[in-house]
Amino acid sequence: MSAVVTWPTEGIAFGGDYNPEQWDWDVLLEDVELMREAGVGFVTVGVFSWIKHEPRDGAFDFDWLDRVLDLLHENGIRVDLATPTASVPMWLHRLHPEILPQDAHGHPLAPGGRLGFCPSSTVFRRYALRVVEALAAHVAGHPAVRLWHVSNELGGGNARCHCPVSEAAFQSWVEARHGTVEALNTAWGTAFWGNSYSSFDEVTTPRGITAHNPGQLLDYERFSSDALLDCYRAEAAVLRRVTPEVPVTTNFMVGLGPDVVDYPRWADEVDIVVNDHYTYGPDPMKHQELAFAGDRMRGISGGGPWLLMEHATGGSTWHPVSQPKGPGELVRHALGHVARGSDSVMYFQWRASRSGTEQFHSAMLPHSGPESRTFRQIVALGADLARLAEVAGSRVVGARVALLHDDEAGWALRSGHKPAVRLDYATTARAVHAALFERSVTVDVVPPWHPLDDYDLVVVPGLFLVDDTTPAAVAAAAERGATVLVTWFSGIVDETNSVRTGGHPGAFRDLLGVRGDDFWPLDETEVVELDTGWRARRWTEHVTATTAEVVASYTTGGVSGGAAVTRRPVGSGSAWYLASDLEPAGLGELVDRLLDEVGISPAAATSPGVEAVRRASDEGSWLFVLNHAESEGWAEVAGTDLLTGAVCAGRVVVPAGGVAVVREACP
Ligand code: GAL
Ligand code: ZN
Repeated sequence: MSAVVTWPTEGIAFGGDYNPEQWDWDVLLEDVELMREAGVGFVTVGVFSWIKHEPRDGAFDFDWLDRVLDLLHENGIRVDLATPTASVPMWLHRLHPEILPQDAHGHPLAPGGRLGFCPSSTVFRRYALRVVEALAAHVAGHPAVRLWHVSNELGGGNARCHCPVSEAAFQSWVEARHGTVEALNTAWGTAFWGNSYSSFDEVTTPRGITAHNPGQLLDYERFSSDALLDCYRAEAAVLRRVTPEVPVTTNFMVGLGPDVVDYPRWADEVDIVVNDHYTYGPDPMKHQELAFAGDRMRGISGGGPWLLMEHATGGSTWHPVSQPKGPGELVRHALGHVARGSDSVMYFQWRASRSGTEQFHSAMLPHSGPESRTFRQIVALGADLARLAEVAGSRVVGARVALLHDDEAGWALRSGHKPAVRLDYATTARAVHAALFERSVTVDVVPPWHPLDDYDLVVVPGLFLVDDTTPAAVAAAAERGATVLVTWFSGIVDETNSVRTGGHPGAFRDLLGVRGDDFWPLDETEVVELDTGWRARRWTEHVTATTAEVVASYTTGGVSGGAAVTRRPVGSGSAWYLASDLEPAGLGELVDRLLDEVGISPAAATSPGVEAVRRASDEGSWLFVLNHAESEGWAEVAGTDLLTGAVCAGRVVVPAGGVAVVREACP
């Protein structure tokens, strides 16, 4: 992120995507009235408005936008203005059908929908930059416009294009990365199946039925992320030239990962990191998944505040089941993001659409209007957020645990055949985080290149791909006293997605003092027992402890008698290896031992099911207490609950499903 930025909002910003082009003017008047009632002060406008701004090729018309911006400004509502390039106008599709992305079978997408362009298309780029420049020049100096929102969720639908333009761009990318054809053949190991190339123009995007070259697949993911980043950069350059005072961003889709693009490697390009996050109603641990995304956002924002640009008041209709939020969930989810560093609570979208793909998607103002359960909750939330204004600008504090996370590792894992089909990076990374989350231990989910100096526990969960610097950094952390936990199938391949030989896990073998020779994945129904009483599924390995001590061994299964958990003292710290996918109870006990070893305690002592996270600044500190349990809960804290004004002398009691945000008394 660039260092100098005029932060676009004050307090905890509240609002959402606002799509006034779908409504008549009298509805807009009602909108601003209701926005004021709810305390909405920040809205995203113009995400899909290209056809409004440029109804015909080269003919710009910003009258409608002017009226909307003025109306919002008159009502004290600030604007996050989108460039409209996510919604290619039909006239452009007719003029240039070749800009449509193509799938792996060479079929172009149909016009309509959104993001209907090839990221590498120079034709699309020309038209996109023209409308962006016209828009920026037109609104320059408008007092309502506080932030630029480039396109929308770049890659959400057009991330992997196989058209001839993309293929040529991929060839150039591959050449730039590998330099010579010989280096390419080595990196991709093309001697296998005799797939060696003689020149770069023989390279295709990976679309064959039998071609699953892991190096090629991984490079194609990297290329696709870079192609989308170029789309962002090109627009951002225009915006920064025309309106240098307005910060520029684009909405990320950071979740469990791996994501469609490599957000940690994009972070330096945006002035403010912003996220869209959607929970899945039936997921019983959706609040933990939300927390994981929030902890990742801090790893991407450098620890400072970020903005939640979109989430949902209820269900999302792109999910198999679009479920409303249960009692208290709307507030808990909103404050869950704020607790983990967001300085905003924004939704898709303000008013539910009557038509179009997302006509049944939840909104702040549902089809039933203001007399509705959701709108009443939105009004109450707006009032709560106003009470939390003093928290804005503070940072999440107290994280002594780093969890290393990398999209490239996730991409590599899904590139090509692996020892088991059910391996899933997201699930593996999430498991250790869940154990820490349940203990209210604050975790920074950081990219592997993040400095580890401030952490006492470093977790490396299923980090399948690592370069040579990551194991060195992890080893250095252990040497100076940290406890390190590496979990199964980490450090297996290098940056080219080629296996590190000589015993698994190649990159971490020496640090851990173990040597594995056979992976021993399990069938869906298989479970094995450990001598600690713990149980494992999905994965075991045949591992020998070379210089490590064995902490737990298998008592059943193909590797019965072998090591499942090991520990090696390293310098002033230690390195643990977990060679199997433990069930949550056992994993929790293992995590307790690691936390004990370095003396890490929770953000606050709580009853079960209560989440506690602390934000702090020079002005003070605030403990967020979210009770996800179905019974009354508590957290140990002294201070004043900003939401109720209640004074807590050592303990706050929170009703089932309820929340508290306690400004802590000075010690
Ligand atoms: C987001 C997108 C919004 C809307 C929303 C619905 O991914 O940016 O435009 O589609 O999902 O859940
Ligand atoms: Zn293409």
